[in-house]
Amino acid sequence: MLRDKIKIPISELEQSSFCRSDDGLNSKTLEEEFNAGVRWQKLPIEYMRTSPEDLEANILSARKKLGDRVVILGHHYQRDEVIKFADLRGDSFKLSQYAAEQKNAEYIVFCGVHFMAETADILSSDHQKVILPNLTAGCSMADMAQTDDVLDCWDDLMDIMNVDDITPIAYMNSTADIKSLCGENGGVICTSSNAKQIFDWAYKQRGKILFLPDQHLGRNTAVNMGINLSEIIVWDPFKPLGGNTKEEIDNSKLILWKGHCSVHARFSTDQINKARKEDPNINIIVHPECTLDVVKSADYYGSTEYIKKMIDEAESGSSWGIGTEISMVNRLSEENPDKKIFCLDSVVCPCSTMYRIHPAYLSWILDGLLENKVINQIKVPTNVKKYSKISLNRMLELN
Ligand code: 13P
Ligand code: SF4
Repeated sequence: MLRDKIKIPISELEQSSFCRSDDGLNSKTLEEEFNAGVRWQKLPIEYMRTSPEDLEANILSARKKLGDRVVILGHHYQRDEVIKFADLRGDSFKLSQYAAEQKNAEYIVFCGVHFMAETADILSSDHQKVILPNLTAGCSMADMAQTDDVLDCWDDLMDIMNVDDITPIAYMNSTADIKSLCGENGGVICTSSNAKQIFDWAYKQRGKILFLPDQHLGRNTAVNMGINLSEIIVWDPFKPLGGNTKEEIDNSKLILWKGHCSVHARFSTDQINKARKEDPNINIIVHPECTLDVVKSADYYGSTEYIKKMIDEAESGSSWGIGTEISMVNRLSEENPDKKIFCLDSVVCPCSTMYRIHPAYLSWILDGLLENKVINQIKVPTNVKKYSKISLNRMLELN
């Protein structure tokens, strides 16, 4: 796949490159943002030096000329200077539905991260081309489940049980190869908005689930269904049998991959307790990628779309402490001036990979399309598409 050619791992240092930004995270020129020390995809220097205002004018003009040939999809974590150009916004589930429904546009430009663009390519029609403006916009959680490690895990499990004993479920935040493994073995995909429904379905088919790569979403979902913590084990890809005995695997109902989201791992019950102490009327809402203790302590939890809906529909004058990515929290706060809204983590930390979609990249790829040049197309190989489409369609049908 294209990204493999320029695959740039996300170091812990890069993950926090944009934390503690004290100017409200307003976009600067890309050249200035490169100074944060991240390794982003190279693009012609003129785009790097163009001011955010000029980029906006360029994008608007290119967008107008391209008309219906292009549809721009934007995830809620995108920065303001990018999401404002999205024709459709949503969480990863809604965006996958949009990608499947957009039959007319020649190009689907995905302002999000790599696994979302791959999914769009799998679900869209053959004549459509999916573009990710910056190929280094990956997801550090998805990177925690490398395909070879997952294949090894599946082989190990198949040595000690049958495929009829266990359903592989991949979180949307995973590579197309892993989605394909699920499709080929009676498995399915889920997102944070439908994990419970999908787990319910899976337990009706088979007694065990292998869930990857986010251990927290998996644990939160299972505990919410009444599954005992003693029936949940963690698979560490760096240990034989994932660090478990055969007996522990036999006795488990859920095997969780040892992966997590670095953005959501920052939220803690201390932050929730502090917020409640300062304002006893506060409502706490968090994303299910947070740890079990945080989710249990919150008043509400759900996908980014759920969080947005809850805040938009909340009573005027209500106050909300939110446990999710800061670009989204800042936007919710601006869009709901009659409510008190803040991020539970006082250190401003955007998802550094979502943040890699700078308007300069959007301008660059749209200008390319005006010249009939497709830059940064995401193309899932046909053999991988076959089964990954089965597992994704299974999810869409179950909804
Ligand atoms: P949503 O499906 O809730 O949008 O989550 C995607 C994601 O990557 C959260 O970190
Ligand atoms: Fe991945 Fe976490 Fe960023 Fe979501 S917020 S894209 S899970 S790193």
